[in-house]
Amino acid sequence: MSSITGKTKVCGIIGDPVEHSMSPAMHNAAFRALGLDYAYLPFRVCREELQNAVAGLRALNVVGLNVTIPHKVAVMSFLDKLDPLAERIGAVNTIVNDDGVLTGYNTDAPGFLQTMRSKNIEPEGKNIVILGAGGASKGISFILAGAGASLVILNRTRSRAEELAAQVSQIYQRQVEVVALNKKNMARALDGADILVNTTSVGMVPGIEQTPVPAGLLKPRLVVFDIVYNPLETRLLREAKAAGARTIDGLDMLVGQGALAFEKWTGQKAPLAVMKQAAVKALKNEG
Ligand code: ATR
Repeated sequence: MSSITGKTKVCGIIGDPVEHSMSPAMHNAAFRALGLDYAYLPFRVCREELQNAVAGLRALNVVGLNVTIPHKVAVMSFLDKLDPLAERIGAVNTIVNDDGVLTGYNTDAPGFLQTMRSKNIEPEGKNIVILGAGGASKGISFILAGAGASLVILNRTRSRAEELAAQVSQIYQRQVEVVALNKKNMARALDGADILVNTTSVGMVPGIEQTPVPAGLLKPRLVVFDIVYNPLETRLLREAKAAGARTIDGLDMLVGQGALAFEKWTGQKAPLAVMKQAAVKALKNEG
């Protein structure tokens, strides 16, 4: 925001903690780039104040909010409407305030898909290996199954992967293969894979020397995504590049979810390159 005026529209993010979020830098850079009279602010909101914070959003006519840990699930019960995908995933990361009517969306998963497509990677008909079966994996698995991909899910705790696979099969009528996370299974799964997505936290600071996939299994024909963005180049991505694979980093995905939220609040196409640059700068300042 270059200057706040009496007409400035306010957006923001609620979470706890929220001070390490890169979203304020990313969205304010995008508003500036398009000359929009909007400002994006961080709001630290503890669990006990979540309901009051949502009421305040209505009262103050804040036009939109992002929602982060620990409120993505709890916030759903305080909203007026839920987008069907957000309801299915069971988590909201974006709220749109339309004249006091609050609608919850999940832009994490569609942002991920948009990021893939912006790099000319189409999931339809592809064999995709997903590592992990937590919250992040759920949205990604749903969106990729919905886009027509065949999935293999590997998770340390096999029962969690089985639960997720059952949900995906039931909703999207697609068979999902589940295997325990070990080198033998990984080698077999990656043998026929087009795309690999790491949704686990393996490789994130402080464990930056860890990788979920042995380097020898990475091939030039793979596209490798890592949702970890700190560090920006994880060991997995470094070794994937060295093997000749195409890579997409965690900040690309963060920008994807932010871009979709931005478009809902402003009605304008998000400047992806500006947002990525601001996120990279904010991440460096953090480090
Ligand atoms: P998120 O919502 O970010 O996905 P989560 O629900 O805690 O977070 O899920 C984290 C994922 O990373 C899980 O798939 C977890 O595996 P488990 O289900 O077995 O816990 C995976 N994960 C975390 N640390 C891991 C490690 N050291 N090795 C393998 N998988 C790991």
